Amino acid sequence: MRVLMVASEVTPFSKTGGLADVTGALPRALARLGHTVDVVVPAYRDTPLDESPRRPLNVTIGSTMHAAEVSEHLVSGVRIVLLHHDGFFDRASLYGEGGEDYADNAERFAFLARGALEWAASGTEPYDVVHTHDWQTGLVPVLLRHAFASHPQLAQATTVHTIHNLAYQGTFDASWLPRLGLGWGMFRPDALEFWGRVSYLKGGIMFSRRITTVSRRYAVEVQTEEFGCGFDGILKTRAADLSGILNGIDYDEWNPATDPHLAEPFDALTLDRKVATKRALLDEFGLLSPAALERPLVGLVSRLVDQKGFDLIAGLVDVFPTLPATFVLLGTGDKRYEDMWRTLASRYPDQVGARIGFNEALAHRVEGGADLFLMPSRFEPCGLNQMYSSRYGTLPVVRAVGGLADTVENLDVATGLGTGFVFDTYSPAALLEALQWALDTYRNRTLWRAMQVAGMSKDFSWDASAREYVKVYGWPVA
Ligand code: ADP
Ligand code: GLC
Repeated sequence: MRVLMVASEVTPFSKTGGLADVTGALPRALARLGHTVDVVVPAYRDTPLDESPRRPLNVTIGSTMHAAEVSEHLVSGVRIVLLHHDGFFDRASLYGEGGEDYADNAERFAFLARGALEWAASGTEPYDVVHTHDWQTGLVPVLLRHAFASHPQLAQATTVHTIHNLAYQGTFDASWLPRLGLGWGMFRPDALEFWGRVSYLKGGIMFSRRITTVSRRYAVEVQTEEFGCGFDGILKTRAADLSGILNGIDYDEWNPATDPHLAEPFDALTLDRKVATKRALLDEFGLLSPAALERPLVGLVSRLVDQKGFDLIAGLVDVFPTLPATFVLLGTGDKRYEDMWRTLASRYPDQVGARIGFNEALAHRVEGGADLFLMPSRFEPCGLNQMYSSRYGTLPVVRAVGGLADTVENLDVATGLGTGFVFDTYSPAALLEALQWALDTYRNRTLWRAMQVAGMSKDFSWDASAREYVKVYGWPVA
């Protein structure tokens, strides 16, 4: 099977969140099953480049012809195709700066959609599947039904659109339609019109043969008013074509037994070695003391946005320092949450550490060195960090939503079974109760160790999920 994927980010070329991990790892898992996958993504300012040659590609948006370039890079059996256009992508960030989206995002991602299809159409072999991700690529299935409908390389392809996060909808003023050459015919409720504007995500949902979300629970949640972000009605009408496939995690990248970022590698049989990374992590944050080594270390690695429950934490800023725990955060995002963590760290220098920024290596050290990982999300389509945590013997404290509910088993005190601590109500009090329960449980070393081992033994590999995608693509699974 030949699969064309189009996405706005992919590891190791670009990343702001879990989307990049998925578009990096899923194609490799499909390649291991014997399929051929090409992934088209933009080349951004920070995208690492090699000496691969570039060739010209003309992409027309509306009445403007853009002289772009493409380069191809083979990574673990997957062809990554970078689309170069400095006017659109040579910028400080991927989607916006200073809390504002770039004003021309409608055009930048229309360019990605069209450029990807122009590149695919210029090849010699037809594709069986075109798989797109999130609003940034929502125009791809739209164009496949129209401008590219009879193209020999693409005409037979089935289309699958994956929703990683319904809260990001790519909505723009309707006046973009003629400028992008899409025509007013698209401004209909059964096409791109969305509450008086146009939405690229709606394009992905309405024009794709199948729709997936990144966990089973989220596939159900998106059909409700609470989580549907205005799309619940539309998704209900497409329920028969909608499925939830849990993300896997990249077992090569996230493996405590081989992770070069840890002070000492460890596995389920050598968990005592985990403390070496805890010590190094505390030291790195200037928090190392005999007391800090004794008490549980709570880690957070996150985009600092409302989705991740930081308003709950804001309600507990004066309570956290009274708990018998140390906190380390790595994150970047909304200024008010960055300021909140900076203030916390300066007021409680022995107990709270904060690094504002994006740092892959440090993310590994937090996963490896912390005892608990906190993820109190308001909603969570899948979430990868709680799975990384489990793999590293770091017990997650999570809210029972989306992929968090699907991947963390709440401790059952009667049986001693469980892989983490789960709470339901979205309130500071409920979060605090779960956290206190976790801190109390930490004193029961036997139970703690059993929970660590249970989490480390869970199968979060991509293989099973990749097979689910193959089924959604309409292909027999070997
Ligand atoms: P989301 O995609 O909603 O941000 P996920 O849990 O699916 O949430 O994925 C987040 C990914 O981004 C993880 O791989 C996580 O380690 C990474 N990440 C988030 N913030 C940072 C950061 N500040 N530094 C390094 N990695 C980060
Ligand atoms: C989104 C979601 C996150 C998910 C990731 C990868 O960013 O917020 O929950 O894990 O996409 O699918």
